[in-house]
Amino acid sequence: MSACTEKPQPLRLKGLEISPPLFLAPMAGLTHSALRRLILEQGGIGLLSTEMLSATRLPSESPQLSPYLVRSPQETPLSYQLLVSRVEEVAPAIAKLHALGAEAIDLNLGCPAPTVRRMGAGSRLMDEPALVQALVAAARKQTDLPLTAKIRLGETLDEERLRNFCQMLEGEGIDLLSVHARLRGEPFVRKPRWPWVGKVKGWVNIPVVANGGIFSVEDARNCLAQSGADGLMIGRAAAIRPWIFAELAHGVYGVGQEVGAVNKPALYLRFVELLEESFLPERRLGRLKEFSHYFAKNYPFGHSLASAVQSSGSLAEAKERACSFFAKNEAVVEDY
Ligand SMILES: Cc1cc2nc3c(=O)[nH]c(=O)nc-3n(C[C@H](O)[C@H](O)[C@H](O)COP(=O)(O)O)c2cc1C
Repeated sequence: MSACTEKPQPLRLKGLEISPPLFLAPMAGLTHSALRRLILEQGGIGLLSTEMLSATRLPSESPQLSPYLVRSPQETPLSYQLLVSRVEEVAPAIAKLHALGAEAIDLNLGCPAPTVRRMGAGSRLMDEPALVQALVAAARKQTDLPLTAKIRLGETLDEERLRNFCQMLEGEGIDLLSVHARLRGEPFVRKPRWPWVGKVKGWVNIPVVANGGIFSVEDARNCLAQSGADGLMIGRAAAIRPWIFAELAHGVYGVGQEVGAVNKPALYLRFVELLEESFLPERRLGRLKEFSHYFAKNYPFGHSLASAVQSSGSLAEAKERACSFFAKNEAVVEDY
């Protein structure tokens, strides 16, 4: 693997340095304390993220007990993603994030899940620019932390609408935009529209981070070539290959060491250990099932790992089944 194709531009947001400019994408059920620690142990990450956090529930949630808020001291810098659609909920939610020691705050403007859209949140907000303007203005008033927004490209390919939306976000004080390069209704099998990230970059003066469909150094280079983005945000690949940030740091930005062979069974067992350290017993198995769905993609017969874990009744049973799968299977797939 050759290194140093891109020189990383230091990404500095209100005193927070994000270096290398590699971002963990917020993912419900996945980007909790255990996965974040696993990623940190592999290296290369610039900014960690929580999953989306409901502004309605956030103020009353316990940092020690809520699996969404549990965080260990080494998980830094950490961005907290807010799912918010009511202006009056902004201030109490941000006060809580300050108390939790957030290093950055992200607004979810892109989630296409029907349950989220029914609440008038996520990607639904891209249809309501006046409301988003009020939400961002309220958030900006409450915090001096880096305030970022995560968007999709919209309902249809409409340059003027998207440009106005992005420029409005910048005008209201958003410090960085991350762009999942798909329309609201486009599924993951569709190739991401990375050149559209480049369009966004041309319209605003704040940093723009590209997201969607990056699983390897080659994808990352293609994405950067097509978008000119200031950084990369990685979602599913972070659960399939938690070492991807170290690979991209070295292979794209020339930072850190080349990543050697990864002992995948050991990494999986480490994840189980981190689940045990992070969560109450009843919160562990569901999270292992979610992770296994993605991690199994490293194996040619990974579906049998995923389904063995899926049908397990306890963490111990899931671990035992995974170990017997690993004993019989070599991980060799590289095409996700
Ligand atoms: C299981 C799962 C949960 C997700 N949850 C969130 C979320 O909480 N907030 C958000 O903004 N996007 C969420 N996303 C979208 C990702 O952040 C990301 O935009 C998307 O997966 C594309 O990036 P990727 O191709 O690198 O996975 C989720 C995606 C997945 C697969």
